[in-house]
Amino acid sequence: MTIIKIVFVIILIYVVSLLFQKNRYYSAAYIAKHSTPGDCWTIVNGKVYNVTQLTKTHSGGPESILSVCGKDGSNIFNGRHGKESFPQSEMETFKIGVSTK
Ligand code: HEM
Repeated sequence: MTIIKIVFVIILIYVVSLLFQKNRYYSAAYIAKHSTPGDCWTIVNGKVYNVTQLTKTHSGGPESILSVCGKDGSNIFNGRHGKESFPQSEMETFKIGVSTK
């Protein structure tokens, strides 16, 4: 019985940590440190995305992604993909948190 309780608590902690994972807060200064092709974060509409993988797989080429590493990419993203649902939904898979001022 005790073991079942321990396992339950471990699973609960794991699930709660997963829930909070995508809602971590990052400062713009901290995001700016992730500005290389091998470690590329960007802010789009207040949310923070780790788009390192996209620097290699983006269908529109790597340049547009590389241009927003460590920076706010909202204008570029919205300008190109603001009216497209696929890039917007796909970006959720890269979301790691929310940006603070
Ligand atoms: C998973 C998310 C994304 C998907 C699925 C996606 C998909 C695409 C596709 C298919 C194109 C080519 C469109 C065409 O040539 O007709 C494109 C172009 C482009 N994308 Fe993305 N994209 C994503 C994320 C982003 C992000 C994060 C940015 C920048 C913040 C961005 C900026 C651009 C720009 C500027 C172009 C035009 C490139 C050019 O014409 O030289 N995209 N994207």
